[in-house]
Amino acid sequence: MKLLITGGAGFIGANLVRHVLGTHPTDSVVTLDLLTYAGNLANLEGVLDDPRHRFVRGDIADAGVVADAITGVDAVINLAAETHVDRSIVDATAFLRTNVVGTQVLLDAARRGGVRRFVQVSTDEVYGSLGPTGQFTEESPLLPNSPYAASKCAADCLVRAAHQTHGLDAVITRCSNNYGPYQFPEKLTPLFITNALVDEPLPLYGDGRHVRDWLHVSDHCRALDQVLRTGRAGEVYNIGGGNERQNHDIAAIILRALEKPATLVRHVEDRLGHDRRYAIDATKIEAALGWTPALPFEDGIQQTIDWYRTHRAWWEAVKSGAYLDYYEAMYGDRLRAAKGGE
Ligand code: NAD
Ligand code: TYD
Repeated sequence: MKLLITGGAGFIGANLVRHVLGTHPTDSVVTLDLLTYAGNLANLEGVLDDPRHRFVRGDIADAGVVADAITGVDAVINLAAETHVDRSIVDATAFLRTNVVGTQVLLDAARRGGVRRFVQVSTDEVYGSLGPTGQFTEESPLLPNSPYAASKCAADCLVRAAHQTHGLDAVITRCSNNYGPYQFPEKLTPLFITNALVDEPLPLYGDGRHVRDWLHVSDHCRALDQVLRTGRAGEVYNIGGGNERQNHDIAAIILRALEKPATLVRHVEDRLGHDRRYAIDATKIEAALGWTPALPFEDGIQQTIDWYRTHRAWWEAVKSGAYLDYYEAMYGDRLRAAKGGE
């Protein structure tokens, strides 16, 4: 099978490109990625020069680029996106262009190019926020709260419409929060691990009791591969780890593993519209496709902490230049005004 993986130089995409090339010896992959601030060719080290892999730098919202990249492709997995909630709160423009317009450009090209399967990699954030109990099922209403989530929601609707109207063979996945190697250090786990490694404060939003359902990226990649090959057209599949944690617990686990003091935690001003709790009911993918998470959180988080500890050159290069401006704009005032300790 020949795959087009968009966003393959990002966190999940790079892990997925490796997974596919590593587990399917007769598959080949075209990676299409714009290399925005979040895209990084270093994430593809070791597979960039694989003869079964071709990297194309380009924009999924550019129909000409997409038409070229999609030629001869059997299936598309769309991971290209603007992905950080905090950035979407500051300015949603790029989120609309990439996540919404880009998805429609890909859908049109897939239809014209006779692509046999389109996998849209969505997120549990399209369902909004939960109270203290319950889980998101595939039937939960779409109630996005952030501009990021709203743009992913719009993309899901366009994918559904392409299936219903044009008969495109399309499947949507909605996964919970991922952690693992090559994640851009604007997201919670890599930000806290890399800050702790250099004794910088860990900015915990609000009361720190918001809940996320954490899944290792390798388990997400296995699920995407399974959906690609055996999922049913027109279906939505939730993917989750059954592993709910409060943010302050994640901070504590990281600090303990690195033997750093709890006083590095700073409670900072909360994110606007901050979703309180996400939890995924993954019964459907487990029953229909036989997928279950393989890596227990305790092992996965320890491996992840070890990876950032031993790949310092990777994140030091990332945490430079424009990142430092981003960090000051996002955290400077909040940290200066913050209260310390847990
Ligand atoms: P990421 O931000 O690490 O990577 C996104 C990639 O997309 C980058 O390589 C970037 O260069 C590329 N990109 C951005 N705009 C592009 C454009 N216009 N054209 C081509 N490439 C472009 O994101 P990630 O965490 O790897 O997430 C990948 C996908 O998975 C996203 O669609 C996201 O919504 C979804 N998702 C992520 C998580 C998570 O916890 N990280 C959970 C569920 C779903
Ligand atoms: P994030 O990694 O941005 O993922 P998402 O918002 O898409 O779930 O954030 C995960 C949780 O961690 C979320 O509740 C917000 C919180 N958080 C902090 O407390 N401090 C931070 O600096 C960041 C980036 C996130």
